[in-house]
Amino acid sequence: MKSLIKTLVEAWGPSGYEHHVRALIEKEVEGLADEITVDPLGNLICRVGQGGRKIMVAAHMDEIGIMATFVEKKSGYVRFAAIGGLLHTTLAGNRVRFEDGTLGVIGVQDAFGAAKTSVPNLDDFYIDVSDGGDGQGFEPGRPAAFSREMQERGARLIAKSMDDRIGCVVAIEAMRRLKRATPHEVYFVFTVQEEVGIRGARPAAYRIDPDLAIALDVTSTGDQIKGDKLVVRLGGGAAIKVHDTGLVVPPAIRDWMVARAEADGIPYQLELLNLGTTDAAGIQTAREGVPSGCISIPCRYVHTTSETVDLGDVEACVALLTSLLTNDVPV
Ligand code: ZN
Ligand code: CO
Repeated sequence: MKSLIKTLVEAWGPSGYEHHVRALIEKEVEGLADEITVDPLGNLICRVGQGGRKIMVAAHMDEIGIMATFVEKKSGYVRFAAIGGLLHTTLAGNRVRFEDGTLGVIGVQDAFGAAKTSVPNLDDFYIDVSDGGDGQGFEPGRPAAFSREMQERGARLIAKSMDDRIGCVVAIEAMRRLKRATPHEVYFVFTVQEEVGIRGARPAAYRIDPDLAIALDVTSTGDQIKGDKLVVRLGGGAAIKVHDTGLVVPPAIRDWMVARAEADGIPYQLELLNLGTTDAAGIQTAREGVPSGCISIPCRYVHTTSETVDLGDVEACVALLTSLLTNDVPV
C-alpha cells in the first residue's frame, strides 16, 4: 500500500488537470471493477456488483496548485492565481512543477521586511522560472502543482496531496479486498475539482443516482500544540464524520458506521470539523437528495506540502469501508 501512496501523492494533478492521476488509478483498478467509465467532467467511475442498493464512494483526485496568470517582461518571473485553498504562509521558498516538468520557485517581495511580520497577499508572490536565458517563451495559462517527495517517519507518512490521494488509496485498497464481491451495487468514483468547490462529485451523483454515499477525505486534527479545538487526533483511528461546514451526517448513516467499527473491532473516532467540507456536501443535494456520510483520514498540516497521515489510521479506514460495503446498509 505504501508504494501506491507514494505513486499517487507524487503524481501531478491540480484541479481541472487530473488526467495523469486518473491514468494511474485506471491502471490500479483494472480487473477490480465490473465496469469503468469516465464521465464528461473527467470523474472516473468504477462499478462493482450489480442489482443491490446503490452506494457511491467518492474520493477526489485533484490537488491544490497555482495557475500562471501573467509573465513579467523579460524577467522569468510569473504571477499566479490560486487553484484551491492556498495557505499564503506556506508559499515562499516552496517549489512548483508545471506539466512539462519546468520547476518554479516561489518568491515573495520584501521577504525580510513587511513579509516577515505579516502574511502577504497573493500579489506579493511570484514564481521564478528563469533558466539563465532571457525568460522569454513562458506563456501564462499554465497550471502547476507543488513539488515534493513523500517521506516517512515510523508509522507517519509525510507528503503533498495526501488531500486526497490518500482517500483514493483507501478506495482502491477496499476494491482490492472486495474482489468484486458485494451484495450491493457500489460505484467507486475518483472525482475531479473538489478543491475548487466540489464541482465533480455532484454531476457524478446525478448520473449514478445512488441510495447513499460515502466520501473519503482527509480531516484536520486538533492534536498540535495550541491546536484548533478539534476532537480528531492522528493515530486515533478512522474518523467517522458527524458534522462539518457543508454536511450534517444523517444519524442513521453515522450510527451504521459506528456499529460496523464496533462489530469488527476497527479503531475509530468521531469527527466534528468546523473548517471545511468534502464531496459528500455536493452529493447529498444531487437529484432528490442522497443520504451521505464520510470516512475521514486524520491529517496534520492539511494544504501544506507536509500533509501527515498515520498508516494505522489509513488501514482502519480501509477496514471500515470494506466492512460497510459487505454488510447491510441503513437506507
Ligand atoms: Zn480533500
Ligand atoms: Co483540500
